[in-house]
Amino acid sequence: MSAVLRVFADLDTGVDDAMALAYLLASPEAELVGVASTAGNVGAQRVCANNLALLELCGRPDIPVSLGSLVPLSIPLRTAEDTHGPAGLGYAALPAAHAGPTDYDAATAWVRAARAHPGELIGLATGPLTNLALALRAEPGLPGLLRRLVIMGGAFDYRGNTTPVSEWNIAVDPEAAAEVFAAWGAAVAGGHAGELPIVCGLNITERMALRPPYLAELAAAAGAPGIPSANPLIRVLSDALRFYFEFHDSVGEGYLAHVHDPFAAAVALDPGLVNTREATVDVELDGSLTRGMTVADWAGHWGRPPNARIAVDGPVQVFFDRFRDRVGPFAAGLAHS
Ligand code: BDR
Ligand code: CA
Repeated sequence: MSAVLRVFADLDTGVDDAMALAYLLASPEAELVGVASTAGNVGAQRVCANNLALLELCGRPDIPVSLGSLVPLSIPLRTAEDTHGPAGLGYAALPAAHAGPTDYDAATAWVRAARAHPGELIGLATGPLTNLALALRAEPGLPGLLRRLVIMGGAFDYRGNTTPVSEWNIAVDPEAAAEVFAAWGAAVAGGHAGELPIVCGLNITERMALRPPYLAELAAAAGAPGIPSANPLIRVLSDALRFYFEFHDSVGEGYLAHVHDPFAAAVALDPGLVNTREATVDVELDGSLTRGMTVADWAGHWGRPPNARIAVDGPVQVFFDRFRDRVGPFAAGLAHS
C-alpha cells in the first residue's frame, strides 16, 4: 500500500468545510484525488463554485471537483445561509475559479475514485450523504473498495443542532444517511465491508470550539500576523469564521464557532486521534418528533452487527495545534508562490 493517503472529500462548503479542505491540502501525507460538491449549507452549484474557488486560491486548480445532486433523495432541499452566509463562506469573497466542474457527477466521482484506488482510498463526508448514497446504489461494493470512511454527521446520546435530536447533515437528507448506514450494514453481514465508517457526531465535534484569539495564532503561523491577516487564505478563513462566530453567538452558544468538519478531516488522516465505540447505527425516518435522529444500538438490541465506529473522545488541543501547524505554513507558502 502506498505511503500517501489518497483522500476523496465530499463537502457542502460551508465555512467549516472550507477549513477541512484547507487542512487536507496542507497535510503533506495526504493526496486529495477529488472533491464532491453536495447540496446542504448552500445549493450544490454554489458549493461547487466555492470548492473550485478555494482550490484555486490554494494553488490546486488541478484537483477535480464534481457537482452533486441538486436535491436530497426524496425531500426538498433546505439550506443554511443563516449559519454560513449568503454564498456559504460567511463574509469571505472569493473570485470565481477559472476551472469548471468535471463532466461526470459527484456520485460517479466517488465510484471512479474508489475503483481507481481499490483498498486505498479514504472517503471523507462532511455534508449530507446524498451523493454517497447515490454512489452506493451505483457501486454496492464501495464499502469493500474504500480503505476508510469518515463521516461528520449525527449526534450520539447528545442533542441535535437542527431539531432537538437531529444533526444538520443527517437532517438535510435522512433517507440518504439511512441508505449509507444500511449499505455498510449489508456489507458487514456479507463479509465484504473493510473497516467500519468512523462517525464524528456533534457529541464530539461541538467540543471543537474555535474562538477569535485562535485566528491570530493562525495568522502568526502563516507569517502574516494580525486580523485581518495579509495572507489571502487566512483572510478568507477568518472572514468566513467571523460570520460563523456571529451565528453561534446569535443562538446562544457564545462568540465562537464549532468547527466540525476540519476535525473530521483530521480523523480521516489520523483515526488514532479519536477513541471510538462500535455500534449499529440507523436513522429515524418516521418519527414526527424524531425524524433525522441517528440512533445507536450500543447494546445489540436489534441483533444486527455494528456498522459504524462512533467517535466518543478526542483531544481538542491536539486538533487545534495540528490545524494551526499545518494550515499556517501552508498558507505562508501560498503567499510566496
Ligand atoms: C455540520 O452541518 C454543517 O452546517 C457544517 O458544515 C457541518 O458539516 C454540523 O452539523
Ligand atoms: Ca459541512
